[in-house]
Amino acid sequence: MKTIAEIVKQTEFSNEDIIRLLSVTDPEEAAILQKAAYDRATQTVGNNVYYRGLIEFSNICTLDCRYCGIRKSNHNVPRYELDKNTIVEAAIWAAQNHYGSICLQSGERRDPKFINFVTDVLRTIHEKTVSPELPHGLGITLSLGEQTLEVYQQWAQASGNPIGLRYLLRFETSNPKLFDHLHNAPGREKGLERRYQALADLRQAGYQVGSGVMIGIPGQTLEDLCQDIRTFQKLDLDMIGMGPYITSDGADMLGEGMMEEKALMRLSLNMIATTRLVIPDINIAAATALHALEENGREKGILHGCNVIMPNITPRLVRKNYQLYANKPFIEQEPSDTNHYLQHSIQSTGREVALNVLGSSKHWKNR
Ligand code: 5AD
Repeated sequence: MKTIAEIVKQTEFSNEDIIRLLSVTDPEEAAILQKAAYDRATQTVGNNVYYRGLIEFSNICTLDCRYCGIRKSNHNVPRYELDKNTIVEAAIWAAQNHYGSICLQSGERRDPKFINFVTDVLRTIHEKTVSPELPHGLGITLSLGEQTLEVYQQWAQASGNPIGLRYLLRFETSNPKLFDHLHNAPGREKGLERRYQALADLRQAGYQVGSGVMIGIPGQTLEDLCQDIRTFQKLDLDMIGMGPYITSDGADMLGEGMMEEKALMRLSLNMIATTRLVIPDINIAAATALHALEENGREKGILHGCNVIMPNITPRLVRKNYQLYANKPFIEQEPSDTNHYLQHSIQSTGREVALNVLGSSKHWKNR
């Protein structure tokens, strides 16, 4: 049998190799995997970590995803919607603090009022953030769920930034049975196929396309995670965001348990490192959920090959109502505290924060 040290040197990986990497628990083997993923990131995407300032502008959601704390049927969470000015101000704050890009996220809605609101917000952010440093304005990542091709196109046009436009839409798991089990959508079969169609539509509309999965979902196997990586390849993604599955009080999965935290952290880091080795030139975000599991969880993500981080710049007053999972960090932190703290902790990983740049995916540039 091949050793971990032999496997990590490869550039092509069999399913068996991938599953071996995902199952690492021995500390020496884990250290070999970690260093290999970090070095592969340095060689392919460089030494930089890019900021995406995350603005969670509404927790109103029409879906009922069973794992999620802001699902429609959770009536214990007060719903909010930031107004246009507040969102635009947060974006301007990001630009003034040299963030090259932001991510606009909310619960999933498809009504025309919402769609036009987003269009308007995008136009204004663009107008207000074009500068000599950012000639195309802030880079924008949208994370607004499944929409139609026409809506993706409308938003793309409004963003005014053809080279810094991205969309994040996780497929959560490539196992169709597990996907349907998680999404509690009677009458909406083939949910996973629709999700893949949405990702194809995003590509057609000109976005850099990001997706990802949750790691450690009850019932998920290592074979499923291996298949998830194969699906990242098949979808030819530019960016990946993935993090541990964490139970949430407001969710509908309390009976199904969660992995023990240490093992879950290990598995999450193995998944990140393995993905970096298999698809070296993509952007991989260090998910905030890593930090919910462990102090410095995101820094560990960076040490295992992540090169993007999404500091939460949502105004503090509404943050506590955007808890997708329990123990979500930074609920009480002001955006300005974040900068100083993060800069330090990222440097402690040997990386540099890249300011005033869009930080597009190398994989996308290489197309
Ligand atoms: N644990 C971890 N991640 C979660 N998400 C939603 N609920 C949870 C949870 N309980 C993730 C999903 C979604 C993203 C916005 O947040 O993967 O795509």
